[in-house]
Amino acid sequence: MPFATEIHPVAGDLADSAADLLALPVRAGDDGPVVVTDGAGPDPADLDARLPAPLTELLAHYDVKGGAGQIVEFPADLGRGLVRLVLLGVGAATPRDLRSAGAALARAARGRNRVATTAALLGDGTGDARAGLTAFVEGALLASYTFSLAAEPKGPRPVPVVELAVAGADAGSEEFAEPVRRGRALARATALARDLINTPSAEKDPAWLAARAEEVAGEAGLAVSVWDEADLERGGFGAILAVGRGSVRPPRMVGIRYEPENPDSHVVLVGKGITFDTGGLSLKPNDNMKLMKTDMSGAAVVLGVLSALAELGSRVRVTGLLAIAENSFSGSAQRPGDVLTTYGGRTVEVLNTDAEGRLVMADAMAYAVAELAPDALVDVATLTGAAKLALGTGIGALFATDDTLAGALLDAGERSGEALWRMPLVEEYRDTLNSPVADLANIGTNSAYGHPGATEAALFLREFTGGLPWAHLDIAGPGRSMSEEAELTKGGTGFGTRLLLRWLSA
Ligand code: BES
Ligand code: MN
Ligand code: ZN
Repeated sequence: MPFATEIHPVAGDLADSAADLLALPVRAGDDGPVVVTDGAGPDPADLDARLPAPLTELLAHYDVKGGAGQIVEFPADLGRGLVRLVLLGVGAATPRDLRSAGAALARAARGRNRVATTAALLGDGTGDARAGLTAFVEGALLASYTFSLAAEPKGPRPVPVVELAVAGADAGSEEFAEPVRRGRALARATALARDLINTPSAEKDPAWLAARAEEVAGEAGLAVSVWDEADLERGGFGAILAVGRGSVRPPRMVGIRYEPENPDSHVVLVGKGITFDTGGLSLKPNDNMKLMKTDMSGAAVVLGVLSALAELGSRVRVTGLLAIAENSFSGSAQRPGDVLTTYGGRTVEVLNTDAEGRLVMADAMAYAVAELAPDALVDVATLTGAAKLALGTGIGALFATDDTLAGALLDAGERSGEALWRMPLVEEYRDTLNSPVADLANIGTNSAYGHPGATEAALFLREFTGGLPWAHLDIAGPGRSMSEEAELTKGGTGFGTRLLLRWLSA
């Protein structure tokens, strides 16, 4: 669902704003909280007289420390009736802090009409206030994201307008407009991914997801190709077909191309697009199955990224490949013990039909290597429960065959507040994927290693990278949020969208 919230810089003092909620930033200083009233903030002397008590007393009373995202609200009479005044903690005003502050403000402002703050324009003293402004906008918009199919809307609506007060400056200048645009583009791409992820699988089948991808590509002016089941058959995509065989809703592959002039390099992004994962004949118990409409998060993230590259001025040629199938349970489903032939001819013995993600990814990755020969290959997938178990919902698992690529992604994750942790591709474990009847087995067969699930899956995928620099993001943990936390909302998070966009657009 599109954002109900608009954010724009406006010239002039906070105190003069017609907003019904005003947010004053509070830094967490070494000697206690510091309310920032310089710049476009109101005159502190004037302010004290209009508050229920002097500011310093209010800070003590409410135990304000200024930690990023801390919120304290009270009414104030700024000369035109009562307004809501918010003390908004911004910590040290790093981009991460401002992202949390923006999110907290958007939540506090639900049900209000207009909000004004000076918080977005604080820097952390390291010189790049723009990154902070972008992060604030990103946080505020993503925390206002909602997805509901309810006939009767519940809860207060997101705030329609957030004004970023800019003191004595030209609020329309590029200095402010550009970072705000960037934050908006990053948030919009993420919200697109969230919408697709949150859509129930009754509606979201492979053809539906492919059609959404075509639509999005069309709007972004990108070339797109869709392989239907007949095309997949002709092309030799035996793994995508095998996984999709159990469903009455046939699989698809989608390719989307972003091709700037004189690109610096060519990256292929591959996304796992299982529109619902029952486990197949290796059926999941209901508790594990009920969240599996989100198993196409990787594909949604890749599509979100492609949708925003032009807007963000990326200099990288990017091809997105979405490997889409429904992993269903039926008499026509693939069986444990079946052997399938992947794109390019290598065979896989399917010992567990619930390890389907790596199968569809293998076809798309092999295709990328053979037909697109990119400089780097990055895949995004809700691949293993083991990655979630190892790192929880806060951190994505990163596996990579190239240190420079890994470093760049870790750095981008740091900047976007989507943390990754690099995991080892343990060479000794490789032989666990040996099969007596095929080139590979789709799960580990040597229990001597204790079945490190995320690593086994990554080692399986590595077989299809043709030696290219490759990185794999297992987002099974952070792909979904059970709580409203900073910029996250309940349901699909679109984790990875913003980090990949930061990586691809400097
Ligand atoms: N889609 C699941 C992984 C998953 C689990 C994503 C929890 C999000 C939350 C994947 O297809 C799967 O079923 N993996 C199996 C692999 C096993 C059979 C080797 C798993 O992790 O249990
Ligand atoms: Mn599965
Ligand atoms: Zn799956």
